[in-house]
Amino acid sequence: MPATVIVGAQWGDEGKGKIVDLLAQDSDVVCRYQGGPNAGHTIVVDGETYKIRALPSGIVRGKPCVIGNGCVVDLEVLIGELDDFESRGRSTDEVYVSGNAHLIMPWHLAIDQASERRLGKLAIGTTKRGIGPCYADKAMRLGIRVQDILDPKILRQKIEVALAEKNLWLQRVYDSEPFDLETVAAQYEGHAQRLRRYVADTSLYVDNALRAGKDVLFEGAQATLLDLDHGTYPFVTSSNPVASNAATGVGIGPQRIDRVIGVAKAYVTRVGEGPFPSEIEGADQERMRELGHEYGTVTGRSRRCGWLDLVALRYAVRVNGIDQLALTKLDVLSHFDELPVCVRYRTPDGGETRDFPAHQSDFHAAEPVYDVLPGWSEPLDGCASAGELPEAARGYVEFVERELDVEVTLVGTGADRASVLTRA
Ligand code: IMP
Repeated sequence: MPATVIVGAQWGDEGKGKIVDLLAQDSDVVCRYQGGPNAGHTIVVDGETYKIRALPSGIVRGKPCVIGNGCVVDLEVLIGELDDFESRGRSTDEVYVSGNAHLIMPWHLAIDQASERRLGKLAIGTTKRGIGPCYADKAMRLGIRVQDILDPKILRQKIEVALAEKNLWLQRVYDSEPFDLETVAAQYEGHAQRLRRYVADTSLYVDNALRAGKDVLFEGAQATLLDLDHGTYPFVTSSNPVASNAATGVGIGPQRIDRVIGVAKAYVTRVGEGPFPSEIEGADQERMRELGHEYGTVTGRSRRCGWLDLVALRYAVRVNGIDQLALTKLDVLSHFDELPVCVRYRTPDGGETRDFPAHQSDFHAAEPVYDVLPGWSEPLDGCASAGELPEAARGYVEFVERELDVEVTLVGTGADRASVLTRA
């Protein structure tokens, strides 16, 4: 399968990094198509821990990596990761960064933080990495792009134009400190020297790879329910994680995508604010958080935990065109006697629906209707194949398949790479 998109099917943190890492073994190129350092993956290889936020996870496998035009790039973070890789004796020669990707500038971080502070109770709960303000400037046609670092004069000019407006905004609207042009320009000239060699025409690179019959993975960051158009707006990120955006975010035609793999946890987590119908009430919420180590990679925040929501997952299958599912962290459920699974939503008029509500207020009012499946007490770490899973665990996976009419081809049963079981 030459072109495969891996997309988060819930609210993020589904364990996409590990699935990408696994599939990257048999791929020739790994691309990111949206988002920035609001994503975070921890990948452990041969006892070495890699924490990645900007680079595609495929870098750990030593694969050529692309940061597509749809991404936003924080040069401090990206350069930090490149330096870290090189200091461990790893090559970064095959990292390609689109000249059309936008740069997250220091004022984007400052505005993200100040804006969240100002929103108070209405805050989105962003990662405060400048993502929203950077994409907003892209849409406003005020952004600074990766290609601008190639010409020091253009770079300085663009910083000057942006600062003339951003400093006013920071001081007058947010009562925050302004940025000094000379300091920012000098800092970015330094970054420009370091990054220059990675800037490439990534659309052409990926097209050539596909034409040559190579296997290309497109690694989505964040997830379906955080999608700017299809997620639970306004509690979403500012880009489009859905699979079809892999084409736009890298610069290939949509018909080039051959396969879409959705990644979902066997339960659900959410960071930040917003409605969450299957959120667990009571002590089980804390129990699941501890068992699943549900704390954010980027912000360290506690993740809210809920039972598997098949209404939301069915929606993710629809809007992404998911062909196959990877169901991760099934082992975390080993410790529960009964496993409620949300199969429908009850609506305020007393009706029930299997379809995700199209409007925000209906989603806010939706109440979960559960089928309760039997749990299993055996730990799953001894299972070397999907056939060895306890009967109730197999039943859980089969239930998901039946309800969604999608094959679950991978099942995650533990933290390390070897614990992703393939189902025929
Ligand atoms: P932003 O992407 O920093 O603007 O944050 C917007 C929303 O997306 C917030 O609810 C964040 O918690 C959420 N978010 C962004 N990136 C991730 C991620 O990688 N995992 C989970 N949630 C995320």
